[in-house]
Amino acid sequence: MEIIILPDAAAASKAAAQILLDLVTHKPDAVLGLATGGTPLALYSELIAAHKDHAFDFSRVTTFNLDEYIGLPEEHPQSYHAFMHENLFRHINIQPARIHIPDGNAADIKAHCIAYEQAIRDAGGVDLQLLGIGSDGHIGFNEPTSSFGSRTRTKTLTRQTIKDNARFFEDDPALVPKHCITMGIATILEARCALLLAFGKGKADAIAATVEGPLSAMIPASALQLHPNAKIIIDQDAAAKLTFADYYQWAYANKPE
Ligand code: PGA
Repeated sequence: MEIIILPDAAAASKAAAQILLDLVTHKPDAVLGLATGGTPLALYSELIAAHKDHAFDFSRVTTFNLDEYIGLPEEHPQSYHAFMHENLFRHINIQPARIHIPDGNAADIKAHCIAYEQAIRDAGGVDLQLLGIGSDGHIGFNEPTSSFGSRTRTKTLTRQTIKDNARFFEDDPALVPKHCITMGIATILEARCALLLAFGKGKADAIAATVEGPLSAMIPASALQLHPNAKIIIDQDAAAKLTFADYYQWAYANKPE
């Protein structure tokens, strides 16, 4: 794992966006795994700015989103379809046919999950998977006790996640869907690079457990310790509980070319 601690969320988002833009520059038909939530918003703004200001080309990029709520109409403003359209896709020149988001309204959800995994394989696998992290350590919607061998499937959200996400649903937990489709942990681990972002004090415990705790299904993000190319880009607040923070900062400052 490479742990990159930057002064604030803006600097971290810029650094993460640069990694993604460098990838697409070198591989214009890159396959990106994308995430929703508050965390990637500033990164998406950087991508939009790259397209608007420098005509950065996303026309050959393929994307696969991590997850989607079950039963929420795609047009619902809090569906992840709507989120991605509003916060990224409608502002860049991505081709709609290259966008993949799990269909939370599929008639046969199980078959859809199998087809989603197949579509990732058919695209040649994910080059870079962007990740946020839940305060309970989830990645995607892989809640605590998710198997490290899990694949795209349905999950039931924890009450903590429902509480965390209620802010997007009029602060009413009763309005948050209880079920979702999510890529599994094994799906995420197959991405050639995993890039996890976390900002704020509310993520400090989850980050410490992910980076320095034992591998545990109780902290799904700890599975990233098994990933040969995982980058954790965080702000000072999210880094507050890392015992080895000095070392990560020293290593980053002395990183060889
Ligand atoms: P957030 O959510 O980016 O809104 O904090 C992250 C997550 O739940 O994975």
